[in-house]
Formats: sequence, structure tokens, C-alpha cells
Amino acid sequence: MPSPDVHTISTLGSGAGRDTRTVRTAIQSVEVARATDEEPLSTREIVFDIDGLSVDYGSTTAFSGVSLDVYRNRITAVIGPSGCGKSTFIRCLNRMNDLVPGAKVGGRILYHGADIYGDDVDPIEVRRRIGMVFQRPNPFPKSIFDNVAFAPKVLGMRDAIDERVERALRGAALWDEVKDRLKTSALALSGGQQQRLCIARALAVEPDVILLDEPASALDPISTQAIEDLMQDLKRDYTLVIVTHNMQQAARVADMTAFFSLDVSDGKRTGVLVEYADTPTIFTHPSDKRTEDYVTGRFG
Ligand SMILES: Nc1ncnc2c1ncn2[C@@H]1O[C@H](COP(=O)(O)OP(=O)(O)O)[C@@H](O)[C@H]1O
Ligand SMILES: [Mg+2]
Repeated sequence: MPSPDVHTISTLGSGAGRDTRTVRTAIQSVEVARATDEEPLSTREIVFDIDGLSVDYGSTTAFSGVSLDVYRNRITAVIGPSGCGKSTFIRCLNRMNDLVPGAKVGGRILYHGADIYGDDVDPIEVRRRIGMVFQRPNPFPKSIFDNVAFAPKVLGMRDAIDERVERALRGAALWDEVKDRLKTSALALSGGQQQRLCIARALAVEPDVILLDEPASALDPISTQAIEDLMQDLKRDYTLVIVTHNMQQAARVADMTAFFSLDVSDGKRTGVLVEYADTPTIFTHPSDKRTEDYVTGRFG
């Protein structure tokens, strides 16, 4: 598996051959993967054009006023303290909040130029194109094969199902580990394997975007690294958005980083997007003091 394109300023004990540079900030050091391309933002293809997005749960505003563009074949990380609306935000991108009672979405999300909340849009089709992987691996209590074949079958993609399952498992870097036991229970896999199975399940319906909400936070460091390596592979073919509360992880994997925080006024806490930029800028030259305080560990 190729390691990310990175630039070494000083080598941390990167046992797994992952070169990164260490950026010394005021309090801690973080590894920052160098932006892998020099393409200016203005010419990048926009997958999501998000404008004035907000979500309310009854009288609670989870976040409001979020505007940003998500670029094709890039990894975009969403970071910020607990409760600032990261999960709520990422669930807007494939209309998963439709399934959350009381959630009300405001503002606008264009997906390849089309309003995904438009009247004529089928949320099932949205979720086929924009897959999601959650914090806790959640395989079905079925065989490995059936986990991956399930969604294609439901969606009528029944042709060449064996090849489809193999392709998805290869895509999720799991094939070699499971090819001799496809008919055994997915629940017998390790946590890291289960999470890659969930990624394979998302890949099986040929999505365009994969959303990952803290996909490694329940995993050990080696499984976490496998997921991070896999994300680098996947971005060649997919656009990825990852929520993580692990800043080092965002710094290692993401091309773009959005920092959310909590605004407190009248005793109400509302999530806001403080700053959005390429990852090295967020971690080394943030323009907002709140971002700097967060990435240097002074807050949160
Ligand atoms: N299903 C829900 N119903 C009501 N409030 C919710 C629900 N989900 C999240 N919230 C509230 O919305 C805010 C943002 O939550 P969340 O998106 O989970 O933040 P994060 O992922 O950054 O920790 C929090 O105040 C949380 O309590
Ligand atoms: Mg969350």
C-alpha cells in the first residue's frame, strides 16, 4: 500500500514507513501530511457546495451558518470539540438526518450542482451515491459475503454479485484476509476488520463519496493506521469526508480541514464553522485565534 505523499522535515519514529513532517506548535507537535497537489482551489472540482447550512433539534441549534466546498478526490476532515455538530453536519451530506426525529435542516447543499434536498430527489439514491461509515463497526449478523452483497441486492444490482463482492473487499483492503472464509460470520472478525468490512459494504454499491464519522476511534493503533492508509488509497477513486476528534489523525490524512467550535451566547451553545482551509494552513498558520488555541491544545 503506498504511503501518503509527504515531505520530511524531521522524522518521527515512523515505524510503519510513513514519512511526515513535524510541525512544532506552541504546545505540541503534530505530523502534517503535505498537500499532495498544488492545484488551486479555484480549479478543483466541487462535489458539495454548502451554503448557510444549519440544523435545529427542536429549540436547540446544533450548528448554523456553515458554508464550505468539498473537493473531488480529496479527504476533507471535520474537527472540533465534542457537541459542536460534527456528526450532525456529516449526516446532512447524505440526508441521514432525515431519519433523525426532530432534526430540521436549513440552508442549501448542492451535490455536483444539484440540490440534494430538492423535492424530486430520492434520499435512497442520495445514500447510494454518498455512503457512510460509523464510529462503531456495525456489521450485520450475517456472513462476510452477505454483508457486502446485501445493499447491491436490495438495490437490484444482482448481476455478477461474486465479482462485485470481491471488488468491494479488495477496495477495502480486506480481501486477502477473508477470501477463504467468506461464508463465515462477520461478527467473528476483529474490530479493525469489521470496520474495513463496513467500508467494503459502502463500496459495494459504487458510491461517489464516502462519509466517515470517527471511523477509527473504537480501534487499536494498528487498525487505525490500516484505516488511514486505506483512506489514502480510496481518495484516488472517491471523495472522502471524515469526522475525527483526533487532531493528529486529521493532520495525517486530510487535504482540507474544517474546524468547528461552539459559540456561547445567552447560555445557548451553537456549533459554528470557525475556519476551513488546506490542512497544513489549519495546523501551522490558522487565521483564527480559536483555531490556533484548539490545534495547539490550549482548548478542547
Ligand atoms: N438526535 C438528536 N436529538 C437532539 N439533539 C441532538 C441529536 N443529535 C445531536 N444533538 C445535539 O446537537 C449538538 C451537536 O451534536 P453532534 O452533532 O453529535 O456533535 P459532535 O459530533 O460534534 O459531538 C449537541 O448539542 C447534541 O446534543
Ligand atoms: Mg459526533
